[in-house]
This record gives sequence, structure tokens and C-alpha cells, in this order.
Amino acid sequence: MRKVLIAANWKMYKTPAEAKAFIDAFLPLVKDHTRDEIALFPSVTSLATVIAAAKGSNVSVGCQNIHFAEEGAYTGETSANMLTAIGGTHTLVGHSERRQYFAETDEIVNKKLHTALKHGLVPIVCVGEVLAQREGGKTEEVLRTQTVGAFVGITPETAKTIVIAYEPVWAIGTGKTATPEMAVEAHKIIRAEVAKLLGQPAADKMRILYGGSVKPDNASSLLNEVEIDGALVGGASLKPDSFAGIVQY
Ligand code: 13P
Repeated sequence: MRKVLIAANWKMYKTPAEAKAFIDAFLPLVKDHTRDEIALFPSVTSLATVIAAAKGSNVSVGCQNIHFAEEGAYTGETSANMLTAIGGTHTLVGHSERRQYFAETDEIVNKKLHTALKHGLVPIVCVGEVLAQREGGKTEEVLRTQTVGAFVGITPETAKTIVIAYEPVWAIGTGKTATPEMAVEAHKIIRAEVAKLLGQPAADKMRILYGGSVKPDNASSLLNEVEIDGALVGGASLKPDSFAGIVQY
């Protein structure tokens, strides 16, 4: 059985004080929740605050993005080592907003994935089609290409901790959620591609999360599908009661 992971991507929201207020309200709401894993992805300036506040709890904390290099002249970037040094355990890799606004290619996503694994971080690799690709009948091709591109050089051994998030770009921040049937179909395509690359046992173990307008009122219909191993939540993760409602789907 794959353990469900419910993750909050706060994007470029919340000061450290706002992040601390969230954690103080959120932890009591989920303190007895052992059924699923919970992870928060605050912005870089709130990482240390959230990691300290979540210490010893059932909530993990990670970065929304890392650079693939160990260190160097990369103004504005964060290394994997910087993240692990302050106690971060997870990282998002290749979120569609990184691909769209910061020109991240499948090759860069692949490099970042290798760096994350080298540093023992749990990576959540994001894939997903844009609206024109879905409407043009290209969803399957896009998901296969992004999965293959991300997984270059990955073996069944190194893949053990990798999580994939299927986030159809047209569903992000739009209030348009993929139906459970659409998400399941996409997850099956991704899992079949992972099976081709790494073998069926590795594919069966890999968690594939859904992201895109997940809310407390649609979480259970998505998460009750056996193909959907969790959620990556943006807007609805910014309020403690709303995110706790999703965790307790
Ligand atoms: P929304 O939940 O706001 O649609 O964002 C999804 C997302 O991009 C999570 O990474």
C-alpha cells in the first residue's frame, strides 16, 4: 500500500510571522493524524521558522525549489545543502510555475532531481499538460515526455523516495479541478511510463499525487481513488482549517 501524502505549496505567500501563525493553528488540528503524511512547502524566508515550529510533529517541511549545483555563483538560488542544513527534508522539483516563468526544462528538472536524491531529500516531481495540449489531444504525449525527461539516469534503487505530482496546468488556481476520472487516467499514463523505465514493482510503489484546485469539498472524491496517492495543494492550503479539512478528507 502507498501511504497518502498531502502537501501544501504556499508559493509566494506568507511572511515568517504569518507562517508561524499558520503552524500554531494547524498543528493542533492534525496532531493525531497518522493515516497520511503531511508536508508543507513555505517560501525560503519562512523555512527556518516553519521547520523549528514543526519539529517533533507529524508535519514535514521542504523547499519549493532547489538549484541543481552544489554551490556557486547563482544569485538568488538555494542549494540542497542549504536546505538540509536547516532541517528541510523535501523539495518540489519542476513545478509548472517554474517551467512556465523560470524556463525550467525537462533537462533541468532531471538535474535537480538527481541533486535532491544525492542529498537525501524527498523530491516531488511535478508534471502536467497545459490547456492547449489537453484540447489538442496531446496530454498523454506530454506526460510521457515529461516523465521520461525527469527520470533520465534514475534507477529502481534511487527512485525509492521519488514522488510524482500530476498537476494539469489548466486546473491550477483556476477553480477547475480535473474530475477523478481524468486524474486517474493521467496517473495511469504516468505509472505505465514509470513501469517502462524502472519496472512494474518500482512503478507500483511510486506515489503519484494530484494537484490543481484541490479543496476540502472535492478532496475525498479524488483521494478515495486508489490511483491517487495524495494531493499537492496551493490556494486551499493557505488557511489552517481549510488545509486540515483536506488532510482529514
Ligand atoms: P491550486 O491548489 O491553487 O490550484 O494550486 C495547485 C498547485 O499548483 C500546487 O502546487
